[in-house]
Amino acid sequence: MHIVENVLSTEELAWVRQLAAAGRFSDGRGSAGGVAGAAKQNQQLETTPEIAQQLAAMVIGALRRNNRFYRVALPLEISAPMINRYAPGMCYGPHFDAPVFYSPEGRQVRGDLSITLFISKKDEYEGGELHDNKSGQRVRLDAGSLVVYPSGGLHEVTPVTQGARHAIIFWVQSMVRDHEQRALLTHLDQCVESVSARLPASEEVRELTGVFANLGRMWINT
Ligand code: NI
Repeated sequence: MHIVENVLSTEELAWVRQLAAAGRFSDGRGSAGGVAGAAKQNQQLETTPEIAQQLAAMVIGALRRNNRFYRVALPLEISAPMINRYAPGMCYGPHFDAPVFYSPEGRQVRGDLSITLFISKKDEYEGGELHDNKSGQRVRLDAGSLVVYPSGGLHEVTPVTQGARHAIIFWVQSMVRDHEQRALLTHLDQCVESVSARLPASEEVRELTGVFANLGRMWINT
């Protein structure tokens, strides 16, 4: 699981929090089929096409200016973001995410990575941790921060016991489907950055940058 902090600006966060506070929520089970649907007990914000479009534009804009998100996810396409809500007693039991989602324009998006972008403040609810069952990691972030994790791993949202937990959720199709290959590229990218801080404009940096680019050429699918 990768955490990316302060993804939304103050204005964006205020806008989306207002949207969630004023909006109408319906049963979220409709968006997950079969076994995942049975484990799911949350609610989804009902949006007009205009609001859905504004929300997508805001999320895409925030992600585009975030270098860390780009380097971790190597995104090709994102699914239409949704706002969900867990009120007291609601949870999402252990499940795997669906393989296919849809972009704001209706294109198919393979769900490689799942993203939860928290919009509630930590002190506005109790419980509601995102739990990665494989690593045992538990995450609960400040409003405006997000967590990226593999969609194919078992995960759950633990019961909210007090208050309400609002978050924006969406999926990413990565240019590099394989998690190990992607993690290696992200790691190498970080190495190149630290070497270039010590040896700016050096032959070493040029060569490492070439290795990074050529590994990318080998593994990236667009
Ligand atoms: Ni899930």
